Amino acid sequence: MIEYENLKKVNEPFRDAFRKSFETLLDSGWYILGGTVETFEREYASYCGVRHCIGVASGLDAILLSLKAFDFKSGSEVIVPSNTYIATILAVVNAGLKPVLVEPDIRTYNIDPGKIEEKITSNTVAIIVVHLYGKVCEMDPIMEIARKNDVRVIEDCAQAHGAMYRGKKAGSFGQCNAFSFYPTKNLGALGDAGAVVTDDGDIAEKVRMLRNYGSRRKYHNDVAGYNSRLDAIQAGFLSVKLEKLDHINEYKRTLAGLYLKHLSDGVIKPVVAEESFDVYHIFPIRHKKRDALREHLLKSGIQTEVHYPVPPHKQRAMNNILGECDCPISAEIHETILSLPISLCHTEDDIAKVIEAVNQF
Ligand SMILES: Cc1ncc(COP(=O)(O)O)c(C=O)c1O
Repeated sequence: MIEYENLKKVNEPFRDAFRKSFETLLDSGWYILGGTVETFEREYASYCGVRHCIGVASGLDAILLSLKAFDFKSGSEVIVPSNTYIATILAVVNAGLKPVLVEPDIRTYNIDPGKIEEKITSNTVAIIVVHLYGKVCEMDPIMEIARKNDVRVIEDCAQAHGAMYRGKKAGSFGQCNAFSFYPTKNLGALGDAGAVVTDDGDIAEKVRMLRNYGSRRKYHNDVAGYNSRLDAIQAGFLSVKLEKLDHINEYKRTLAGLYLKHLSDGVIKPVVAEESFDVYHIFPIRHKKRDALREHLLKSGIQTEVHYPVPPHKQRAMNNILGECDCPISAEIHETILSLPISLCHTEDDIAKVIEAVNQF
């Protein structure tokens, strides 16, 4: 059986370094924030090419605290892609703001820059872009729209560690940007973890307070904050893996290259653009008979996933929030998309077997 993912195998090469990192932390006697977290924050800010990184408890919290840092008026509108993992939209709702959905470009699966401006009103305060599956959105036109309309940009980089657009890394375009280090991500912890990255010192300071009960100084609280600190154990593990992130991305790009070259044109493959450095958190293909293809692959001993089976606007949780919503492009993607195995735990031989089975269908 070719598994879709095997996190034990993915983390095996890091076992000794994880042990060492854990023992150093254990011996330090300091388990909340402190040196281990600060070291990772410095390293990750430098990796992304920004001034500040603030470690938080999860990717969802990273988006939520980014939004809270701007002090937007309650009920203000935030543009979000209709084709995303629901966390992006939940963060907007949990921040007391109103999500306004924009459809994706059917070729890139990312928010369509040509459809953003028609959704901007006098109540719009921000655009959240999501670099889905490891491909950065078309940031030049998006930043221009934001500048023209005087709204902020927040990047949801949960699936795009190290991905680039025109040579610039994900997380270095918007004013305040969010990462998840959920275990399956290209930079994945061994538990929940996230981070906010920004060039803006005031925003960084605000997020730092918000993640720690709204406190700058112990037992003095300036704003109503949260407990959303990056766990020091996870920060240590993330520093270990960060050293190998470029290698992980290159490996996934090699496997993606095999798919792109050898998969038949019977399936729709991800587009490749010169200005994009994609990191293939996921390798999505599309097929009209997606479920039958998935069944065929399973019978051939190959596990796949669907990211995602139900679009956010069709989720029960969103019934009273988004109301009647027509997102045909997003719906079509959700009906036809299939994620093929692409992970550190797969060999080129595994990928050849997947290609053969897909091409037989
Ligand atoms: C696009 C996107 N945004 C946000 C999140 C939320 O991250 P977390 O699970 O760390 O809260 C995820 C996580 O899977 C994601 O894929």
